[in-house]
Amino acid sequence: MPTHTFQLNGEQVSVDVEDDVRLLWVIRDLLKVTGPKYGCGINVCKACTSHINGKAFNPCSVQVKDIRPTDEVTTIEGLADTVKADLHPMQQAWIDNDVAQCGYCQPGQIMAAVAKVKQCRAEGREVDDDAIEELRNICRCGTYNRIREAIKAGAQDM
Ligand code: FES
Ligand code: FES
Repeated sequence: MPTHTFQLNGEQVSVDVEDDVRLLWVIRDLLKVTGPKYGCGINVCKACTSHINGKAFNPCSVQVKDIRPTDEVTTIEGLADTVKADLHPMQQAWIDNDVAQCGYCQPGQIMAAVAKVKQCRAEGREVDDDAIEELRNICRCGTYNRIREAIKAGAQDM
């Protein structure tokens, strides 16, 4: 079985797994990092949203053979370390706005929010309602209004 190596939350990891296994299953089932959630498995619900090299991506739709050894994958577990703090400002904003209901979609929501703020900054755009509405993360509990307020608050501290 081939060995695949990449960076996960600041550490180099290697796994022996077939090429066509998708990264979400590698991260969750083999590496036991369960922040990215399984919802649809076909890049629709966005529950698995994580970062690759600082940008949002959905590991349910990426085969492990397409990940390079230098690729840096970050899940919600490693987000705070990217700012060398106990919590990322977006996580703090989520707590302050009491966003979560059942919680299942929330790791993906936070990871998508952080990437969206970075994307807006890179493009010289405001993190406004239009930008936030570009996010496609589904929340079955309908926490969208609180998510919107939390993203605006978190963006101010990023
Ligand atoms: S589980 Fe990845 S997008 Fe739904
Ligand atoms: S908080 Fe329940 S699915 Fe979003």
